[in-house]
Amino acid sequence: MTIELKNVLELADAALAADYTRVRRAANALARDLAKGGEDAVANELKALVRKRGVPLKASGYVETLPVDSKSRLPLLEEQTWPDTPIFLNESAWRTFNDFIADAKRIDDLSAKGLASRLGLLLSGPPGTGKSLLAGHIAAQLSRPLYVVRLDSVISSLLGDTAKNIRSVFDFVPRKDAVLFLDEMDAVAKLRDDRHELGELKRVVNTVIQSLDTLDPSSIVIGATNHSHLLDPAIWRRFPYKIELGIPEEGVRADLWRHFLFEDQDDDGRAGLLATVSEGLSGADIETVSLTARRHALHERRDLDLGTVVSALLELRSGRVATPQRQPLDPEQKRQLAVTLKEKYAIAGADTARILGVSRQAIYGYLKQQDGEAQNG
Ligand SMILES: Nc1ncnc2c1ncn2[C@@H]1O[C@H](COP(=O)(O)OP(=O)(O)OP(=O)(O)O)[C@@H](O)[C@H]1O
Ligand SMILES: [Mg+2]
Repeated sequence: MTIELKNVLELADAALAADYTRVRRAANALARDLAKGGEDAVANELKALVRKRGVPLKASGYVETLPVDSKSRLPLLEEQTWPDTPIFLNESAWRTFNDFIADAKRIDDLSAKGLASRLGLLLSGPPGTGKSLLAGHIAAQLSRPLYVVRLDSVISSLLGDTAKNIRSVFDFVPRKDAVLFLDEMDAVAKLRDDRHELGELKRVVNTVIQSLDTLDPSSIVIGATNHSHLLDPAIWRRFPYKIELGIPEEGVRADLWRHFLFEDQDDDGRAGLLATVSEGLSGADIETVSLTARRHALHERRDLDLGTVVSALLELRSGRVATPQRQPLDPEQKRQLAVTLKEKYAIAGADTARILGVSRQAIYGYLKQQDGEAQNG
């Protein structure tokens, strides 16, 4: 078996220097050698070890020297750990996600054949649709550390420092075999306001473009924006892969409810019901509503009350701020909800009964009462 001995030395050296990124890279190189030599079991164990242990090294107080803004002394980027929650995406987003991962894994091969695009991925979509989470999943899938740059913090109050900051961020990351995540890309576009002269905006945009252009073809850059149309077209073009993270579709909403509210247990079709009435809500909305309802059930030592969940999400749908109320719905609230679900959302009485945890007869009673009032009124 051929083990590159320098990888062993590199591993020892990096470990003693507590350089987490180098440890991981050397260990992965070693694992590749081992796998080539037929030692698959050890190779896999080593790779699993690196994945598992990477985070505590950082938590143990080891801090890398990150580039900082010269005025505020704040770091321009920070390393984030890989997410431990799953992500649920619409079909077309999954396709691009998988293409991107596949291309990134074979980038050397693709380059040799002249088929590589730069590994730039632009994520766009409304707040709370999973852009940051998705960037984390990409880093995890590729076993690379994730460096997050908030462009709004890179934009310095000191005129002229912004371009310098951008350069030091880009200089730092390629050395690290990392995923560079440029969050809040809109911040660059917002420089168009009166606080900055147009010259400054141009300089910043040019620096971003130049920095992107000088990156090694195997470097991975992910950008996120709420409004892709605000981005400078020249920057936009430098991200050949694009994922539009829209508001989740019905099937995805059901997955989100199943995961966040029902903890992936048997939900007896109720996740699907909630999906029907939660159109327009983001993943983050569904998570917040779910966790609040579960906390209430825990505090009050009772079962989940889906009535409070549905009431909250109907409020959210009409643009109001809402979380589930702490107490279960009272009979009058249940009656009103039953009427709304039937009249506005055409939900069958049997389904409403399941959501409210009452008998079908009770639902028919509520609706009859409503009809009576409508006729009288
Ligand atoms: N598609 C999704 N799948 C699973 N969880 C999601 C999804 N979208 C949102 N969430 C949940 O909501 C949280 C917030 O999402 P995230 O921070 O990734 O949104 P974002 O698109 O980056 O929002 P912003 O534009 O405000 O930065 C996530 O940590 C996750 O728990
Ligand atoms: Mg985000």
